Amino acid sequence: MKAVGLHQYLPIDNEDALVDFQIDRPEPGPRDLLVAVKSIAVNPVDTKVRAPKETPVTETTPKILGWDAAGEVVAVGSAVAHYQVGDQVFYAGDITRPGCNSEFQLVDERIVGRMPRTQDYAAAAALPLTSLTAWEALFERLGISASGDDAGKSLLIIGGAGGVGSIAIQLACTLARLKVIATASRTKSSMWIKQMGAQHVVNHRNPVDEELQDIGIDAVDYILCLNNTDQHFPAMANAIKPQGKICTIVENSGPLEVGLLKSKSATFVWEFMFTRSMFQTEDMIRQQEILNRIAQLIDSEELVTTVGDTIEPINAANLRLAHKQIESGRTIGKLVLSGWD
Ligand SMILES: NC(=O)c1ccc[n+]([C@@H]2O[C@H](COP(=O)([O-])OP(=O)(O)OC[C@H]3O[C@@H](n4cnc5c(N)ncnc54)[C@H](OP(=O)(O)O)[C@@H]3O)[C@@H](O)[C@H]2O)c1
Repeated sequence: MKAVGLHQYLPIDNEDALVDFQIDRPEPGPRDLLVAVKSIAVNPVDTKVRAPKETPVTETTPKILGWDAAGEVVAVGSAVAHYQVGDQVFYAGDITRPGCNSEFQLVDERIVGRMPRTQDYAAAAALPLTSLTAWEALFERLGISASGDDAGKSLLIIGGAGGVGSIAIQLACTLARLKVIATASRTKSSMWIKQMGAQHVVNHRNPVDEELQDIGIDAVDYILCLNNTDQHFPAMANAIKPQGKICTIVENSGPLEVGLLKSKSATFVWEFMFTRSMFQTEDMIRQQEILNRIAQLIDSEELVTTVGDTIEPINAANLRLAHKQIESGRTIGKLVLSGWD
């Protein structure tokens, strides 16, 4: 089968950063689906895994990236209970296994959802990783009610126009009925955020606590940080209400001054979308349930897909372009690749 991967961890302008190659189709383990991958989305995790390492590493077999896919089930493992050959599915996958930048991929059925009936593969591939992250962050880590019990409370989303922000804004507005303030630094990204449903837009190039005050908001009940935790931490500590909750999904590069939250008894919590699959947690199947719920919400038009751009076909040259775009830090919505030559 065709696949795209890397032997060395190189800057994206190097032609060897991602290369086309052929490998054998893998065999499913007991709970695995073998999926014929039709469309994929590219995420910052792909570029972070691909980035050059301090000590050069060479992979003897190519490392396959990619953790967002939509496709068709072509074989199932002996213990698979929820899917059969021919099902159309979408999933993010497991960071500890080979990714979806290949014609066929193995994925555990417990982290796979049924594709929205109303969408094509490209629109479906835009959704899984970001929807799982946004859902877990809002409704599990921050503990916001997904059925409107917290309606009217305020949420600041930092980095609103990116992949995660685009779906988080929709979930927070549509299901939780929160008052959502999201950040963007450009006219185009500000317009996109409004389209996703945010009531207010502030600029993340300035301290976000000052930006909130400029629009008459002293503090917010919840903050979801989707970019540069180091940059935004002091302003988040200022902008959170007493007993409020902050969730970040982005690793810090220096120490965070968590003591700033003590007098407010504010909660600080992490979300990492790969935790459940990485540690094979007992509730791993929750990701299947979340994806199925996302598909229903898309089919009932309560959510819209977040595709920004699409590129065809899936190959190393186009994936290098996609990685370069993601590394610019200016992506709006999701970047999707479809089809094999
Ligand atoms: N923990 C997890 O499970 C998890 C899951 C998914 C993603 N992530 C991480 O979360 C981050 C966001 O992911 P994503 O897919 O949403 O990324 P993305 O689509 O690449 O985000 C692009 C957006 O970031 C905004 N942005 C750029 N610099 C910013 C800054 N300094 N402060 C605030 N916003 C800024 C840009 O807005 P403007 O163009 O308007 O400046 C742009 O719209 C990445 O670091 C990713 O690795 C973590």
